[in-house]
Amino acid sequence: MIRHLARRSGIKRISGLTYEKTHGILKIFLNNVIHDIVTYTKHAQRKIVAAMDVHKQYKGKMDQITNVVEYEAIAKEKLPKMIYDYYASGAEDQWTLKENRNAFSRILFRPRILIDVTHIDMTTTVLGFKISMPIMIAPAAMQKMAHHEGEYATARAASAAGTIMTLSSWATTSVEEVASTGPGIRFFQLYVYKDRNVVTQLVRRAERAGFKAIALTVDTPRLGRREADIKNRFNLPPHLSLKNFEGLDLGKVDKTNDSGLASYVASQVDQSLSWKDVKWLQTITHLPILVKGVLTAEDARLAVQAGAAGIIVSNHGARQLDYVPATIMALEEVVKAAQGRVPVFLDGGVRRGTDVFKALALGASGIFIGRPVLFALAADGEAGVRKVLQILHDELELTMALSGCRSLKEITRNHIVTPWDAPLRIAPKL
Ligand SMILES: Cc1cc2nc3c(=O)[nH]c(=O)nc-3n(C[C@H](O)[C@H](O)[C@H](O)COP(=O)(O)O)c2cc1C
Repeated sequence: MIRHLARRSGIKRISGLTYEKTHGILKIFLNNVIHDIVTYTKHAQRKIVAAMDVHKQYKGKMDQITNVVEYEAIAKEKLPKMIYDYYASGAEDQWTLKENRNAFSRILFRPRILIDVTHIDMTTTVLGFKISMPIMIAPAAMQKMAHHEGEYATARAASAAGTIMTLSSWATTSVEEVASTGPGIRFFQLYVYKDRNVVTQLVRRAERAGFKAIALTVDTPRLGRREADIKNRFNLPPHLSLKNFEGLDLGKVDKTNDSGLASYVASQVDQSLSWKDVKWLQTITHLPILVKGVLTAEDARLAVQAGAAGIIVSNHGARQLDYVPATIMALEEVVKAAQGRVPVFLDGGVRRGTDVFKALALGASGIFIGRPVLFALAADGEAGVRKVLQILHDELELTMALSGCRSLKEITRNHIVTPWDAPLRIAPKL
């Protein structure tokens, strides 16, 4: 064909070569190209088939998931070690990390029977906002490390489930970007930076973007010692940034000799934060303020005095001070101190509908989940987060039915028995 084309074009010589020679060279060249295309196509085909197999394998695994804990193993397989470790780790000996789960297992039920549970109402109101269930999403940093859609996916899943998402200050998606996903009730978690102009700007942006409350994190004057992050020299992958701070030159968490995040916190977060700043915050925003990180009755009383609209009993997912009690152990003390003046919420170790019920029985107005969202996001994106919320919804509904509670108001302290109740009630009678 080349010969034919060359003859028709009247080409006799190309670059000093006869067209026969050129033809020979072109033929070899084309043969090579064809060979390469065939090889690469086969290679690409093999890669596509392999990727499809992996996809099918994961899809199969996803269909098999029956509780929220199961996402963690898939996330561990899929994520780079540095990222999985960042999500999974607790501080130091990780005693509190285990205790956050173990403590739930020491609380038992006192179910009531023969109550008509045909209809169960799980709806509730948080700071005046009606939501489908008392299960909400805690702020967790840097979600695009888990999945390319990151906080976008979490926001969509939360609004589809009719519940609240809390966006971290350290999100990889900005307040405006999250707002662009459409309607939804969202809270903004705030770390107070040394530069108060940065804080003021950020709070105003959250307000303008339609966020409904500020969750002020008060347990992080410095970052807890998460040893895996130190070993891994944790840093934010260079293609990502802390989107809320991007234009302010504070968006990068670089590699250092230990955890890059610990260095970032040491340089930017205000260690002098005190109760007077909770009052200051109320001068720059009309949004209600939830104080996140309360573990004692003393601080619960101070939070109320400082004008907090609510309290979140939290130990930061056991990532800050190790050997603090599990949040479920601290909850009742805080609830009693709050005396019903503000709602009290809990996060930390909630993995089952039964856990949610136990927290409500001890006086919580609702709970937040952290890691289950991150692991589900890593495993299956938005679909994973939706499924986590659905599973917990269904488990709580079942727990209510089997305990004889038709609405959240019917869940009482008498529906559970804890290790700190009178020994008579928990010890089996022999
Ligand atoms: C990977 C990770 C990142 C987190 N990032 C934040 C954050 O940016 N701000 C914050 O206030 N809390 C943060 N938390 C704490 C959560 O808001 C929440 O308190 C905790 O995850 C609840 O415990 P759970 O993970 O056992 O559900 C983070 C927790 C994890 C696991």
